Amino acid sequence: IIASFQPNLLVGKSVMVTAGPTFEPIDPVRGITNLSSGKMGYAIARAAREAGAEVTLISGPTALAAPYGVHCINVQTAAQMHDAVMSRISSQHVFIAVAAVADWRVKNQSAQKLKKDAAGHAPALEFEQNTDILAAVAALEKRPYCVGFAAESENLQEYGEAKRKKKNIPLLVGNIGHQTFGQDQNELMLFDDQGHTLFPLADKQKLARQLVGEIARRL
Ligand code: CTP
Ligand code: CA
Repeated sequence: IIASFQPNLLVGKSVMVTAGPTFEPIDPVRGITNLSSGKMGYAIARAAREAGAEVTLISGPTALAAPYGVHCINVQTAAQMHDAVMSRISSQHVFIAVAAVADWRVKNQSAQKLKKDAAGHAPALEFEQNTDILAAVAALEKRPYCVGFAAESENLQEYGEAKRKKKNIPLLVGNIGHQTFGQDQNELMLFDDQGHTLFPLADKQKLARQLVGEIARRL
C-alpha cells in the first residue's frame, strides 16, 4: 500500500472526479439533496494532482475551496453533473465517481415559490429517477478506468461486492457512510475482482493518496 506522497505516479494521465452532493429543486427556494461534505472527493482530486495527473473535478454544492491546480466545474443538479461529465469524458483515462448523486429529481418542480394553504395540506411531490452517471460512463465503448464509491449503512462487504458487479466496474470503494459524513477521517474497503482490502481508519487525505496509488498500479 502506497501511503505517502507519490509525485510521478499519474504523469500524463487525465483524471475526472465527481464530488459532493447534488441539489434537486422543488421550487426556487427549496430542494432535496444528499448528505455529503465533498471532503473525500476533493481529497482524491488533490491526491491525483499531487501524483502528476491533469485533474477535472465536477462538484455539486459544497463549502470547500477548489484544490490547487485542479480544473473545477461547479454544478447543482444530477442532470447538470451528467452533462458536465459526458461532454468531457472522451479525453479521460480515469473516472472516479465520489459524488453522492440524488437518485431522484422532482418531476413537478414549480417555477414559483410554493405557498402554504390555510387547510394545512402539504404539496404532493412527484419524483423521477436521475440517470446513473457512473453507469453511463462505464457503458461507453471507449471507457476510462472507472472507480465507484458506495456509502452503505450496513452489510458493507456484501453490498460492496454486489454493487461492483452490478455497475460493471473494475474497482469499487465502500465506506460506512453515515458514520463519516463531514468528518476528516474515514475507513474504506476496496472491492476488485480479487476480493476486498480494508484501508483502516485514517485521515481522508491519507486514504486518498493510498487510493490513488492503488488506481495507478491498476492502469
Ligand atoms: N452514481 C452516479 N450517478 C447516479 C447515482 C450514483 O454516478 N445517478 C455513482 C455514485 O457517484 C457512486 C456509485 O454510483 O460512485 C454508487 O452510488 P450508490 O448511490 O451507492 O449506488 P446506486 O446504484 O445509486 O444504488 P442505491 O443508492 O440504490 O444503493
Ligand atoms: Ca444512490
